[in-house]
Amino acid sequence: AAVRKYQFDIKVKNVSRLCHAKPIVTVNGMYPGPTIYAREGDRVIVNVTNYAQYNMSIHWHGLKQYRNGWADGPAYITQCPIQTGNGYTYDFNITGQRGTLWWHAHILWLRATVHGAIVIMPQQGTPFPFPQPYREFNILLGEWWNADVEQVEKQGNIMGLPPNMSDAHTINGKPGPLFPCSEKHTFVMEVESGKTYLLRIVNAALNDELFFAIAGHNMTVVEVDAVYTKPFTTQSILIAPGQTTNVLVQADQAPNRYFMAARPFIDVAIAVDNKTATAILQYKGVPNTVIPLLPNLPNPNDTQTALDYNKQLRSLNSPQFPANVPQKVDRNLFYTVGLAMNACPTCVNGTRLQASLNNITFVMPQVGLLQAHYFNTSGVFTTDFPDKPPRPFNYTGAPLTANLRTNHGTRVSKLAFNSTVELVLQDTNLLTVESHPFHLHGYNFFVMGTGIGNFDPAKDPANYNLVDPMERNTVGVPTGGWTAIRFRADNPGVWFMHCHLELHTGWGLKTAFVVEDGPGPDHSILPPPADLPPC
Ligand code: C2O
Repeated sequence: AAVRKYQFDIKVKNVSRLCHAKPIVTVNGMYPGPTIYAREGDRVIVNVTNYAQYNMSIHWHGLKQYRNGWADGPAYITQCPIQTGNGYTYDFNITGQRGTLWWHAHILWLRATVHGAIVIMPQQGTPFPFPQPYREFNILLGEWWNADVEQVEKQGNIMGLPPNMSDAHTINGKPGPLFPCSEKHTFVMEVESGKTYLLRIVNAALNDELFFAIAGHNMTVVEVDAVYTKPFTTQSILIAPGQTTNVLVQADQAPNRYFMAARPFIDVAIAVDNKTATAILQYKGVPNTVIPLLPNLPNPNDTQTALDYNKQLRSLNSPQFPANVPQKVDRNLFYTVGLAMNACPTCVNGTRLQASLNNITFVMPQVGLLQAHYFNTSGVFTTDFPDKPPRPFNYTGAPLTANLRTNHGTRVSKLAFNSTVELVLQDTNLLTVESHPFHLHGYNFFVMGTGIGNFDPAKDPANYNLVDPMERNTVGVPTGGWTAIRFRADNPGVWFMHCHLELHTGWGLKTAFVVEDGPGPDHSILPPPADLPPC
């Protein structure tokens, strides 16, 4: 195994998009940021130095960080932020994982521009379990605001108002020629006829699930969230913020220029957002003057295509890569996911939008939860997060005003080491139904089942996939429906779980699990590094 060293300088740079220049926060002046390359089994050391005016922290999204939450990154959960002028070294091993993941700022809304891909190759001599691609490309999908992103965040988070929608979606940081002043910066992927390419697609957008397609070309999905899938072929993929998807594309069409495009999937009519980001797949030798063809993308409200797509995802579950699905459950959890309207004396109208799990709006602590847990500091959090909502109700039926006002607290759930956990996430119709991509830090989980309406504990578990459910780190809870996940709590530490729509995270749609140490020194949290940032 190798040691891979990276230097990340957090610095502000002027970047111009959509005919506007503005300063953005970057890593090493790059947007999107640099790719981390490693092999399964390697040790990665990233030395972060913060030269920007904002406090910073970096999360390695999807890496399990076994016993090593100190390197996980979410601000005030596993570390205090890296203050301006200071640094911190993230030092971690990549064990038992290979594929595409990504890294991003995990404080404020800075991940809008502070993000990049993590490419983990299989161990030396281990081939992919699918045809060897000729070449590969990273495709990072994102969002661009003309306004300062932190001003947009303030509108959403501090004032509790719906914030401005982004002004563009982007592919590798570029909106593409359907947007003003964007034509000459378009991302172009050059291919040779007859060859096969691997695309590593990341959704780094803040607030939008996206459909992605390539005109004239099918895609074969082979991996999501750094877990191999049973390959299947599709015209378009659906990818939520936080998720990654690897697809094979064959350059088997007439040599030409073809658009690849990304556009939101939004299945409720609260906002009409059909901005389409484009990039170009160009066959070698075709002149740049040829006008590309646009792909057929599902409509922003095409819920059926979204559901059908997700149903096709299955873990590869081969002898080499078995799906170790927990067959029996030690602990059953049921969390409602809701938007709320809370009193706010200082806000316009005296109210503000918030969000809750089991009617609890999570309050961010002032010091890291992992430190508080490790050093037994009392008064930072409580471990009384309820296993069930305070009272059952018709979650997806007419909203009950009784549930519109939430409780507040830094409340987390404690899990016994190595226990098997089932968590049902149930969307509710408080204010409105909406789809929520949930991400759990420190773990992959299995997606046992999903459905529309209220989860029925008497019937729905009978339809769970106990054989080859998709294993991943971020999953959509469908609009007005539920998703059941299972995982084995074998990674001691404090692990954040939240909606990966940045707006909802800011409104309190988050909590954490405290996973207890296991027996003996090999199953307990590692000691903190000496340079862990102080609060
Ligand atoms: Cu990709 Cu807690 O985040």
